[in-house]
Amino acid sequence: MDSSVILVIAIAAILGFAILFVLVTARRRASTGSLSRETRRRDASTPPDTTTPEGTSTDLVDTSAAARERADEARDSISGGVPVPAGGRAIAERQPVDEEELGITRRQFFNRGILAGIGVGVAGFGAASLAFIWPPSGVSGFGGKVDVGNLNDIDDTISKKIPFYNAAAKTYVQPYPTADVPKAKKITAYTPAIIKGMQQGYVALYQKCVHLGCRVPWCETSQWFECPCHGSKYNRVGEKRGGPAPRGLDHFALEISGGSMTVDTGTIVTGPPVGTDTTGQSAEGAPCV
Ligand code: FES
Repeated sequence: MDSSVILVIAIAAILGFAILFVLVTARRRASTGSLSRETRRRDASTPPDTTTPEGTSTDLVDTSAAARERADEARDSISGGVPVPAGGRAIAERQPVDEEELGITRRQFFNRGILAGIGVGVAGFGAASLAFIWPPSGVSGFGGKVDVGNLNDIDDTISKKIPFYNAAAKTYVQPYPTADVPKAKKITAYTPAIIKGMQQGYVALYQKCVHLGCRVPWCETSQWFECPCHGSKYNRVGEKRGGPAPRGLDHFALEISGGSMTVDTGTIVTGPPVGTDTTGQSAEGAPCV
């Protein structure tokens, strides 16, 4: 799937969650402190308790007219003057509805606005993080397959005893003597993909020194790669010849198709161990380092 499509889906999903969160939070707040409709209906349908408590003597119940009158007065004073039927419950006075309760209050508006802003910010950050960590597909720069150049140009350069360098791939393309492939096959660090390139007469070497990561330049006089940082040296095909490097230069798999070469920089193939010397190439002149 294209990474931009994934990015759009991720943004939409995160925004959806943010909006859902805001709505749920607002609904919960609005319902706090009020009784549900079902509870109110059940409460209204409950008949008043008019039974005489068990064991109460009728003698003790004040049924005189004066007592009833006092009770009515007390009810009137409690209900604010609204007449209350004897033995019944008070008739609720209709209160005008607060218009703000019908819509959204200013406080709710600001709260939701702040939450929405936070949601958008989190969504943006999440989408950017996803885009950063998502593995690239169809990448043409370093980290993917790089078309390093036309085969004629490559052959022309290496025929002058200079490696063909491609900056986008951070790669040196060097010739590999096909007669030495049987020896290379005995080195387990040379994977089938690397052997395949050697059989076609090439190796693609990562420019990074395996000691501490300096870019290793080519020395035309010695015909070796010589690292200026701490003096590691590698022969023409990247096998270690001296210095503190723990192994030979790392490789990339290469493919030749339609007259051009592609190097897969998505997979770094670890270089051969110290002591590997499949080509037997000695320094051909003065060292540069
Ligand atoms: Fe190359 Fe140390 S980085 S020798």
